[in-house]
Amino acid sequence: MRLDSHCVEILVLDFGSQYTQLIARRLREYGVYTEIVPYFEKLESIKAKNPKGIILSGGPASVYEEGAYKPDSRVFELGISVLGICYGMQYIAHFFGGSVVRAEAQEFGKAVLEIADSSVELFKGVKQDSIVWMSHADKVESLPSGFVELAKSGNTHYCAIADFTRQVYALQFHPEVVHSECGGEILKNFAVGICGADTSWNMRNFAEAEIVKLREKVLGDSKVLCAVSGGVDSSVVATLLYRAIGENLIPVFVDTGLLRKGEREAVEAMFRENLKVPLIVADARELFLGRLKGVTDPEKKRKIIGETFIEVFEAEAKKHNTKGEIKFLAQGTLYPDVIESVSVKGPSKTIKSHHNVGGLPEWMKFELIEPLRELFKDEVRALGRELGMPESMLMRHPFPGPGLAIRIMGEVNSEDLELLKEADSVFIEELHKWGLYDSVWQAFCVLLNVRSVGVMGDNRTYDNTICVRAVEAMDGMTASFSHLPHAFLESVSNRIINEVAGINRVVYDITSKPPGTIEWE
Ligand code: XMP
Repeated sequence: MRLDSHCVEILVLDFGSQYTQLIARRLREYGVYTEIVPYFEKLESIKAKNPKGIILSGGPASVYEEGAYKPDSRVFELGISVLGICYGMQYIAHFFGGSVVRAEAQEFGKAVLEIADSSVELFKGVKQDSIVWMSHADKVESLPSGFVELAKSGNTHYCAIADFTRQVYALQFHPEVVHSECGGEILKNFAVGICGADTSWNMRNFAEAEIVKLREKVLGDSKVLCAVSGGVDSSVVATLLYRAIGENLIPVFVDTGLLRKGEREAVEAMFRENLKVPLIVADARELFLGRLKGVTDPEKKRKIIGETFIEVFEAEAKKHNTKGEIKFLAQGTLYPDVIESVSVKGPSKTIKSHHNVGGLPEWMKFELIEPLRELFKDEVRALGRELGMPESMLMRHPFPGPGLAIRIMGEVNSEDLELLKEADSVFIEELHKWGLYDSVWQAFCVLLNVRSVGVMGDNRTYDNTICVRAVEAMDGMTASFSHLPHAFLESVSNRIINEVAGINRVVYDITSKPPGTIEWE
């Protein structure tokens, strides 16, 4: 098995499709290490990655429009095979001299794939008449010379095409989405059958290679301060680092006072049982609450929290840094965050300053270590399993660094924090009781800055409103609200109102992302 798991086998040039990430996910499932770069990646940098094949993704633009996205056309001269998907196909047809026009009828959804020649490598093992997923408004009207038709569908004549001499293939449909029945097979046929990509990428060799890399980076007596939150990402980072550098790992958990009920104790116990180095708990409750006093603006709250975290880490580093060896700060940044920041859509608008990305202050002295930068969330969980971590640690719902501060609308104070902690713990307890915890991606309560009138035991109440939120997601980039059973919601509502004094109304958030975000601030 190859140890160098970071060789890029297939490189995806991203033209802005919402499905681009799925291409990498599908291929990685087959053990083919795939990375995504923006369509304008420099040829030199593409060459340096030395991929065995290139995929041009879909995208929202039209190739015939002025200013349409174009890659460096020399990618066709690298002597490696290229596969275009949707916009990628239209770009290929247009570039080599075919014509692309607006289709009379846009095609979104299922289509039936009629393969012209099943012996072609791209369609090896793919059933005739299998379902593929279309999402396009333009179509290829005439083929460039040298290209042949490989498949058609009811609406689309040129559903798959190829130029075998140039080793250029193209598909109008999206093989990367699960609705394309044999889509994974087709991508694998391209990567492995046509490009000869290596299929040995897996979590075991990723972990082994990463441990070697971390040892090489953190030399001698150098120490790494690892910010742990108790969430899956930072716990996996800490476990990986422990394997790499043993006691030179200094895991620090900050009690911000913005944690859920019992969180600090649960995280301490989890680390005591599973990691052999002692967890340092920095009690910064007063500091955080003091800094947040009077602050109501969500972005201000996030910035203050991000900066205060680093301040606490720097202070902890000083305390434990008698010989000046703590040079590094490790954190659990994931691949979707990295892709977002190099998105083809350009520097994306700041929706929220995530505390570990946009929230880092410029004055920070640490050098960053981010071993999960190449992984998706479910891959991080698989890595954790490979490292022998227990499911209870790996399947915890995500919890944001800014904690309950972004779940209390407006100013944060200790009274509201207590209310929210109690309500949240009832909700989570009920989810476990009803066996629903693992079926949702994330669930929590939000304390709204809204009071309403109620009646309890013949008395008028005028109290707070709690919003219950539960979502389903793959990676948190998009999400839909969970369709939790009404009987369950009823029981949550009853318990919160009966058990948490100060709350007289419970509402359920039925907003998906987009247009909402998962957290309220
Ligand atoms: P949004 O609210 O942006 O959240 O839809 C997407 C996912 O990210 C989590 N989240 C954060 N995680 N630091 C984190 O570590 C943050 O600042 C932060 N803000 C949001 C959120 O809980 C959800 O899982």
